[in-house]
Amino acid sequence: MSGTGVTGATSVTVRVPAKVNVQLAVGGARPDGFHDLANVFLAVGLYDEVTVTPADTLRVTCEGPDASQVPLDRTNLAARAVEKLAARTGREARVHIHIAKDIPVAGGMAGGSADGAGALLACDALWGTGVSRDELLDICAELGSDVPFSLVGGAALGTGRGEKLRVLEVGGTFHWVFAVADGGLSTPAVYGEFDRLNAGVEVPEPVASGGLLGALAKGDAVALAGALSNDLQAAALSLRPSLALTLAAGRSAGALAGLVSGSGPTTAFLVRDADAAVKVAAALVGSGTCRAARVAAGPVPGAVVL
Ligand code: C5P
Repeated sequence: MSGTGVTGATSVTVRVPAKVNVQLAVGGARPDGFHDLANVFLAVGLYDEVTVTPADTLRVTCEGPDASQVPLDRTNLAARAVEKLAARTGREARVHIHIAKDIPVAGGMAGGSADGAGALLACDALWGTGVSRDELLDICAELGSDVPFSLVGGAALGTGRGEKLRVLEVGGTFHWVFAVADGGLSTPAVYGEFDRLNAGVEVPEPVASGGLLGALAKGDAVALAGALSNDLQAAALSLRPSLALTLAAGRSAGALAGLVSGSGPTTAFLVRDADAAVKVAAALVGSGTCRAARVAAGPVPGAVVL
């Protein structure tokens, strides 16, 4: 679980997965500005690794192809997570947080949330706080709507603003291809566009689809493909119309189905098996409609100390 840095200080590394939303049902805007959701999360095998090491002050560093897009100040969810845990346990937040980033940045795959959950679990282990799992989940919920799921992983239905989780049983492994777009999309901007597109419309209560939950439970990829849905997709496409070309390219390459992942702009393609994933990924890259394509399967466990 731990290693020894050059200073002789112990460090802890946590590995945290990305997520895809197999259903994202969005209700009307609430008075607090958030939206009630029925959010069916699936954790998939693309990971960030977060390492914490005792240091004189709190600082964040990041490595990886998109590291330059990651904020290294106190707005980084990893830094905020450490500050919250330190405040709650009467410590000073004196750690160096290093993020090895493999999850697309601002891509709708909960990469920032993963780093928040990862830093929280890593510092909890480093400091031996004895804080309960439920308290860690409370801190995650304060950090952001998707952060509790990054800790829990697997598959879960998120209600409220997405932070109240019910763990779901999954009867098999689902294979995915993720088309990474150029640049990110701001989650508040996509929700704002959702509100603009639905102005004057009575938005129904978000409800989890029975057919979708049944497909997950059976591990039935064809049935899941028929049930995938994302109420933020129209808003993401409105802000980034070129995503329609990516969706068309993945479908014509043989994906069972494709949809925008969360608030986008990553697009997610469900495929029959690992071989199909490799073929669809190659076709997506060849289509020139995305920056890169990544292959991953899920469900996988949430944040774990290595
Ligand atoms: O909770 P989180 O910090 O990830 O939310 C980022 C933004 O996304 C919120 O400020 C809000 O604009 C939007 N959001 C929302 N309803 C949710 C979750 C997020 O409107 N359930």
